[in-house]
Amino acid sequence: MSGEIVLEAHDLARHYEVPRGAFKEPAILKALANASFTLARGKTLAVVGESGCGKSTLARLVTMIEQPTTGSLNIGGTDIAKATSEQLRQLRGEVQIVFQNPYGALNPRQKIGDALVEPLLVNTDMPAEKRREAARAMMDQVGLRPEHYDRYPHMFSGGQRQRIAIARALMLDPKILVLDEPVSALDVSIQAQVLNLLAELQERLGLAYLFISHDLSVVKHIADELMVMYLGRAVEQGTRDDIFANPQHPYTRALLSATPVADPEYAKERIVLTGELPSPIDPPTGCTFHPRCSLCFDRCKSHVPDLLPAGPSLVACHAVEEGRKDAAA
Ligand SMILES: Nc1ncnc2c1ncn2[C@@H]1O[C@H](COP(=O)(O)OP(=O)(O)OP(=O)(O)O)[C@@H](O)[C@H]1O
Ligand SMILES: [Mg+2]
Repeated sequence: MSGEIVLEAHDLARHYEVPRGAFKEPAILKALANASFTLARGKTLAVVGESGCGKSTLARLVTMIEQPTTGSLNIGGTDIAKATSEQLRQLRGEVQIVFQNPYGALNPRQKIGDALVEPLLVNTDMPAEKRREAARAMMDQVGLRPEHYDRYPHMFSGGQRQRIAIARALMLDPKILVLDEPVSALDVSIQAQVLNLLAELQERLGLAYLFISHDLSVVKHIADELMVMYLGRAVEQGTRDDIFANPQHPYTRALLSATPVADPEYAKERIVLTGELPSPIDPPTGCTFHPRCSLCFDRCKSHVPDLLPAGPSLVACHAVEEGRKDAAA
């Protein structure tokens, strides 16, 4: 059933220790703080933000490559902190990831057919002929031709390689696909083809997507829900339609104003982000966005804003909370 919750994340955080030299305590880098969201069957949550805001960290937690420092992750009804090793093995098959650079994810010496068969070989006791059949069927689903089976990764274009990476991720019949900048390395025309393929596969297979991108225009059509992140924190979260129609956080507004729109009736304000992206190892006090924010007032420099309901969305901004947004904009 579309809409069934397949993953619940509650207050996920991930800290890293960063060495500062022999005689100093390591610094704590908060790559991710307080991420709460759900993924639903057949739906896409898009996570958007600038480089270093914690998107891939979140991907590593959801795919169970790393453990959260705090917070809980429940996948298919199982709290992963309490899962047995057998349950974890099974859950790892249900959550697969596709990276930005498919060439890095494919072994240059392995034929495409063998690359697709491999997850079945490692994780199932399916007989060889059935594995090959499954690989051929998957190639067809992602728009690769039968003769591609015996070719090597270097014989494909970037878009085709990303199709192969998607096919490989789907071989174990996962419920959740984490897509970490899956089209960012591709030409714009090829991007659209891969995005269309992802939309088709989602519809056909009922997949839940966690779609990571630094670019709002990429997720505009595929996202159902959006989470906008800044320096490890969600600053705005809600449905794609609500956020595109009425972005509230000054950071979301700045990102959106830099996004090309096709609709000329949508008269856009142009907000240019000033100042550098601060270092997450030494983040600004209070709201970490305050040094770059045109709405900044005293409270923003000292208090971290909570992510609170603001209309239909959730927004972490003192100015929005106090209704200052429109007065100052
Ligand atoms: N293993 C690690 N040790 C220390 N710091 C890390 C580690 N992994 C990530 N970080 C830091 O955590 C922050 C978030 O990194 P992350 O890779 O999640 O960002 P991102 O949003 O995916 O960025 P990009 O758009 O560049 O891929 C960065 O400041 C990064 O340097
Ligand atoms: Mg990343």
